[in-house]
Amino acid sequence: MENGTDKVAEEEDIVNPWEVQSSSSKGVDYDKLIKRFGSSKVDQDLIDRIERITMKTGRKVHHFIKRGLFFSHREMNKILDLYEQGKPFYLYTGRGPSSQAMHLGHLIPFIMTRYLQEAFDVPVVVQLTDDEKFLWKSLTLEECYNLAKENTKDIIACGFDPDKTFIFSDLDYIGSCKEFYWNMKRVEKCVTFNQARGIFGFSDTDCIGKISFPAIQAVPSFSTSFPHIFNGRKDIPCLIPCAIDQDPYFRMTRDVAPRLKLMKPALLHSVFFPALQGAQTKMSASEPTSSIFLTDTANQIKNKINRYAFSGGRDTVEEHREKGGDCEVDVSFQFLKFFMEDDERLEQIRQDYSSGKMLTGELKKELISVLQPLVAKHQEARAKATAEVVEKFMSIRKMPCSDKYPPPVPGASSKKKKKKQKVDSVDDVAKNVEEKLHCGKVET
Ligand code: TRP
Repeated sequence: MENGTDKVAEEEDIVNPWEVQSSSSKGVDYDKLIKRFGSSKVDQDLIDRIERITMKTGRKVHHFIKRGLFFSHREMNKILDLYEQGKPFYLYTGRGPSSQAMHLGHLIPFIMTRYLQEAFDVPVVVQLTDDEKFLWKSLTLEECYNLAKENTKDIIACGFDPDKTFIFSDLDYIGSCKEFYWNMKRVEKCVTFNQARGIFGFSDTDCIGKISFPAIQAVPSFSTSFPHIFNGRKDIPCLIPCAIDQDPYFRMTRDVAPRLKLMKPALLHSVFFPALQGAQTKMSASEPTSSIFLTDTANQIKNKINRYAFSGGRDTVEEHREKGGDCEVDVSFQFLKFFMEDDERLEQIRQDYSSGKMLTGELKKELISVLQPLVAKHQEARAKATAEVVEKFMSIRKMPCSDKYPPPVPGASSKKKKKKQKVDSVDDVAKNVEEKLHCGKVET
């Protein structure tokens, strides 16, 4: 790189909500991304800290966290501080329902969120941005809305607790919840077109719906957007597990929160789930051969992996035995990192493949034997998510956990709370004095 010959390392990875592209076969350089986005690395201290807490309910830290697949965060430590002080958070994640065909990569944030729900015993809200897909894709409102309901079945199949999980379609919920809509207006008033263009790259030919959309993805970060769960409380912290391409939405959210005297959401970011063809890009439902779909049969899974999964193996068996394979670029190995739970077995495979003892065909066989039952199990669980079950998860309802959030006493905003909000704002002022100048005071 230093002598300028390594072109690959010079080119910057493209990472935004609409495109992920790296020129390196190892995929996106995530350490660089942490610097570029200004987030923090999930380091061993944080992993140990999470495990200390989850072990209280007998759960090891999830392998997604331990293996660096959720590698970056914003203010996880603050979320854990509050949790340990008896002020638990809620989880927020989402999906843009652009197609019926969900693939393995789509499951990652939901598997993580479900684990965190169980390990921390907290509520979850899941946003289905059917409105977003209407604006970005050539689909009708009806189609988007129906896809939201269909995708909800896959989300439910991840095992969410119906007593603690609210899944909502924007097209449905926003018209039924004044508080959510009012929060949207507050956010919209805080962000100028200039700022939105700077963050999201909107152009003159984008429809105006797109320009205001980020406010809609922002507001589930605020507990006041769910009065039926949090009874109007604005002090319930929010943690968002998501792939790191969604971060721009939440940088914007964290930026405006103090101005609205609301809490900034914390984030836990994942790496991208690689396409079968290699980690230069992520799995995409619109490229059928790049993906293992949740509807694939055992045979389809086997054929796709054997045919398409990019191999880090050598050209000939002799060469492979001599020099060994490259786990860092091998897609089958990368998939095993996500889905093989047994740490020791995974490490053995890593060693055997790297040394040349294990051949690509054998590695693929391991992966196939992990994915076939996993996808079959998902299909079984999805079949149980009937229309009634979907209705239950999506209904605006009080939940047993709502009792944990007694409504705020009117006029009793304590001094202590005010002080805390000031600390948030100070952070923000330091970072964004200039933007604040554009915005002035926001009446909420
Ligand atoms: N925009 C996301 C997508 O297209 C969906 C989404 C909405 C989301 N809210 C979220 C994703 C919160 C992660 C976290 O998939």
